[in-house]
Amino acid sequence: MLKRMTLLVALARETSSLNGAWRRRGVYRDRSDMPPLDAVAAAVGAAAPWAAPKWVWAFCWRAHARLLPALHARDGLTNTCVNLQVLWLKALAGDDAAYALLPRGFRLLVAPPLRRFYPRLHHQNIKLRAKFLDDAVRDELRRGDDDVAVVALGAGFDGRAARAVEDRGPRARAADVDLPEVIAQKRSVLGRADGYGAELIACDLAGAGVEAALARAIGNRTRVVFVVEALLIYLDAAAAERLLDACRGAPCAAVSLCFADRLAIDGVDEAAAARLFADRGFDLVRYLPKPGLARHMGVARRRPRRGES
Ligand SMILES: C[S@@+](CC[C@H](N)C(=O)[O-])C[C@H]1O[C@@H](n2cnc3c(N)ncnc32)[C@H](O)[C@@H]1O
Repeated sequence: MLKRMTLLVALARETSSLNGAWRRRGVYRDRSDMPPLDAVAAAVGAAAPWAAPKWVWAFCWRAHARLLPALHARDGLTNTCVNLQVLWLKALAGDDAAYALLPRGFRLLVAPPLRRFYPRLHHQNIKLRAKFLDDAVRDELRRGDDDVAVVALGAGFDGRAARAVEDRGPRARAADVDLPEVIAQKRSVLGRADGYGAELIACDLAGAGVEAALARAIGNRTRVVFVVEALLIYLDAAAAERLLDACRGAPCAAVSLCFADRLAIDGVDEAAAARLFADRGFDLVRYLPKPGLARHMGVARRRPRRGES
């Protein structure tokens, strides 16, 4: 009898997890607060990812992760907090700077003619947040002059900060901040990209010395645009709060924060996100939730301090 019950329970569990696996990703019928992926895609102006069953997404993600050690056997790059996987996905989604950092032979796998044949899964999902951030950074830069720093926190192998200040005046600067081992790896492959335009700064953003690293990244510019893309996912709530406080305390006149990440709030309610930023001295000025881990996208600006207009 006991054996039969155990078997039944195991069967029921298996069936319900299979049900989950067949559910389409990015479509939450039971959550009215979360827009489906195709609505997010329309809002950011990109093609929607394929609403395939979750098991298809999971299979592709795992297969890709398993391939990485072979693809990088020669250059020794490792997948710290999935940053290498994201690099490939960004290249597949059409990011030329990402493509330039990939190993010369293997990158042909995601070269322009071939990339059209990949089903629009993870790379298109990442493209949504990348496009949101590219546009948000561009809009923040337009708000003032070129005495500005664009600083990517937890930049991984991403090249947005460098790209954002290209063709701006000599005072516009870019910096990428990440863990020392990641910065060392990025430095080792930058030879593959022509004239990379961001300073690379090694810092554990959950540890000591964050304020000094941010000050160095800003380099005495009058304003800063911080970019946080899928970094807070890897920090605990206290470290994420400390990082926001360090951003608020940045030594310049204006601070913007463009994010596509996970905030320490339940669900994706805009009022909760606004409260979180208000508690840390920021106004949330733009907000768009998106299915996935980096589910909160938006722009926050530091409230003017006493004496600032
Ligand atoms: C998912 S990857 C995202 C990389 C990049 N922002 C992108 O979207 O292409 C997360 C990045 O956060 C970095 N990271 C995680 N914990 C960190 C910490 N404590 N300090 C600095 N960087 C950290 C990882 O090294 C990794 O590069």
